[in-house]
Amino acid sequence: MKLLAFAGSSSTQSINKKLATYAAGLINAEEKEIIDLNDYELPLFSVDKEKLIGAPPIARLFLDKIEWADMLVISVAEHNAGMTVAFKNIYDWASRQKKLVFDNKPVLLLSTSPGGYGAKNALEAAKISLPRYGGDIRATFSLPKFQENFDVEAGQISNKEHDDALKEIIRNFDYEQKG
Ligand SMILES: Cc1cc2nc3c(=O)[nH]c(=O)nc-3n(C[C@H](O)[C@H](O)[C@H](O)COP(=O)(O)O)c2cc1C
Repeated sequence: MKLLAFAGSSSTQSINKKLATYAAGLINAEEKEIIDLNDYELPLFSVDKEKLIGAPPIARLFLDKIEWADMLVISVAEHNAGMTVAFKNIYDWASRQKKLVFDNKPVLLLSTSPGGYGAKNALEAAKISLPRYGGDIRATFSLPKFQENFDVEAGQISNKEHDDALKEIIRNFDYEQKG
C-alpha cells in the first residue's frame, strides 16, 4: 500500500502538514510520501493564463503523485471559511488536465486550525468538492485548537480523546480502491 499525504496549505510552518504527517505515520503502508504544495506552485489559475502557458508540467507531476498512491491523506487549512488558494490553485490547474484529479483514491480528509472549529468550513468545502473530482472520502477528522491539542516537538496529538478518535478512524479505514 502506497500512501500520499499533503496539507492544503503553502505555509512552511503548516499545522495541517504536521497533522497530515502524524496521521500518515499511524497508517500501515509500505511506502509513504509527504509532499509540500510549495513544490507545486503555479500562477493563479485563469483561462487567460492557461491560453498563454498551456498545461503546466507541475500540475501533471501532482496528478502523477496521486496516481502513484493507493490512498491519500489530505489535511485542509482554512482561510476565510474556505480552502486555501494554494490548494485550490494546483487543484484547478490539475483538473484541466484530468477531471478526476483524485483518481478515485480513498481519502482520509483532515483539518485543523488554532480555533475551536478546527477548520471545519474548509473540511466541509472539501467534502463537497473532492468527490466530484474523484476523491473517495472514506473518513474525516478535524482537530480543534491545534496549539492546545498537538505537541509540535513530539509531532503528535497530545489530547488523548482526540488522539483516540483519530486512531479509531484509522483502525476502521477501508483502504480498498473501488473506482
Ligand atoms: C488569510 C487568513 C484567513 C484565515 N481564516 C481562517 C478561518 O476562516 N477559519 C480558521 O479556523 N482559521 C483561519 N485562519 C487561521 C488559520 O487556520 C491558521 O493560519 C492555520 O495555521 C492555517 O493552517 P496551516 O498552518 O496549515 O496553513 C486564517 C488565516 C489567514 C492567514
